[in-house]
Amino acid sequence: MRAIYPGSFDPFTNGHLDIVERALNVVDELVVAVLKNTTKKSLLELDQRIELISEVLKKYGDRVQVESFSGLLVDYCRSKNTTVVIRGLRAVSDFDFEHAIFLMNKKMYADFETLFFMSSSENSFISSTIVKEVASLGGNVADQVPPAINRKLSEIFKKP
Ligand code: PNS
Repeated sequence: MRAIYPGSFDPFTNGHLDIVERALNVVDELVVAVLKNTTKKSLLELDQRIELISEVLKKYGDRVQVESFSGLLVDYCRSKNTTVVIRGLRAVSDFDFEHAIFLMNKKMYADFETLFFMSSSENSFISSTIVKEVASLGGNVADQVPPAINRKLSEIFKKP
């Protein structure tokens, strides 16, 4: 079975990595789909996010592809011939948003399903927003992101 793991991944964290690794225990093939968001200002350019995530996930070979998508997720799922999306849930605070987008997606694409993975306890507090904030203020996020992402963040926020 092929599934899509969509997100902004700005940046990709150890929380995302945990979900990818566990999803690969369940699905055969995973497409990590990086949202090309034209309204939200991102820290990392789309190409940088794709390049970094590809580097982090290259050990999984052909089972993982990293791509960009724009427009509706359901249209992207159709174009990839799959009905299955993977999402991570960290806490109840994620539930309302995830529930709403699931219902909307299901309304647009009747066969659509989401497989939710509960974050492991060590990753349940990690978010891209917190990582960006801490890194931008000179804090250490080496335990929260893969080494390639940490190097890129250090480069962006290096002290003069
Ligand atoms: O990592 P994020 O930012 O929580 O991911 C959100 C994402 C990419 C899953 C969601 O914004 C999305 O699917 N966007 C594509 C546009 C779309 O289909 N919108 C309808 C459902 S909100």
